[in-house]
Amino acid sequence: MRDYRERYGEWALILGASQGLGRAIAAEAARRKLNLVMVARREAPLIEAAREIEAELGIQTKTLAMDMARDDIVDAIEAGLGGIDIAFMVYNAAAEPHGEFLEQDVATHLENIAVNCTTPTLLVHHFGRKMVARGRGGIVICSSLAADQGIYSYVTYGAAKAYEMILGEGLWEELRHHGVDATALMVGSTYTPNFRESQRKKGTLFADSPAPEGIAEGIPLPQLPEDAAASLFAQIDGEWLPRIFANPRDEQNAIANRDKSRVEMIMRMGDAMRTGWRKPMDPVG
Ligand SMILES: NC(=O)c1ccc[n+]([C@@H]2O[C@H](COP(=O)([O-])OP(=O)(O)OC[C@H]3O[C@@H](n4cnc5c(N)ncnc54)[C@H](OP(=O)(O)O)[C@@H]3O)[C@@H](O)[C@H]2O)c1
Repeated sequence: MRDYRERYGEWALILGASQGLGRAIAAEAARRKLNLVMVARREAPLIEAAREIEAELGIQTKTLAMDMARDDIVDAIEAGLGGIDIAFMVYNAAAEPHGEFLEQDVATHLENIAVNCTTPTLLVHHFGRKMVARGRGGIVICSSLAADQGIYSYVTYGAAKAYEMILGEGLWEELRHHGVDATALMVGSTYTPNFRESQRKKGTLFADSPAPEGIAEGIPLPQLPEDAAASLFAQIDGEWLPRIFANPRDEQNAIANRDKSRVEMIMRMGDAMRTGWRKPMDPVG
């Protein structure tokens, strides 16, 4: 495990840090001696998560309760930082509109673009420039396996996650020449509160357990957020790649699926979404 305070600087900014994967990522950053600025909308769980990580890992935290959808996001975060320099940044927050495209309000689709595309662009531009000026820094953009193909009932979410994937990959190539590391984190099914809630709404077997009884053969089980975060940091402790898979299984599946047709991939994923993972299938992640 590397000392990121030595490697990058003192403070990490984790956007979407109060629960699930974001909280687990915050804890891994703290294990590498970074102090944390933790951001989410709901203040109480955010403060609770920060207190727990401080008590367990002995670093300093600062919490900022705010919505990533606001259009003055850069000014709001800078004001909240009160002069703290950000050395390491993880964009984990996400909007996740679910349902057929035409059945949702266009405002929902636009909020998805604000939270998953516009805000990460604004924040990377702002903090990336500062990191380049200092000649060091690290940026992780959380994407999804949903970025790999059009996906039934998550049409604009998948499209936005594809944007984040390509954003992270492009930044990897540009920023490494300035001493700044960047990547797109490819996240597959992860047993977070948001994942559980969405499974409950869809009535799938994963609503109450990450490994439920009666699950059909070939259905990939969700990863625990702590394992996903540990896997990310184990990889970037060594080498940063343009795209990093949180779950090694998903990387193997992506390689195995590389030669499949778009029609097959999109229809298989659609089938999985429609049936709530009840039917046997080949793994798609
Ligand atoms: N879980 C999965 O199976 C899965 C699969 C593929 C990709 N991913 C990706 O992995 C990342 C984390 O996934 P998750 O949804 O399961 O989340 P999570 O890490 O369990 O929680 C989301 C965090 O972001 C905060 N957040 C959400 N919307 C926000 C907003 N508009 N402004 C500020 N903070 C916000 C939440 O707190 P508040 O609600 O209090 O704001 C929470 O702290 C996301 O980028 C997601 O797309 C997840």
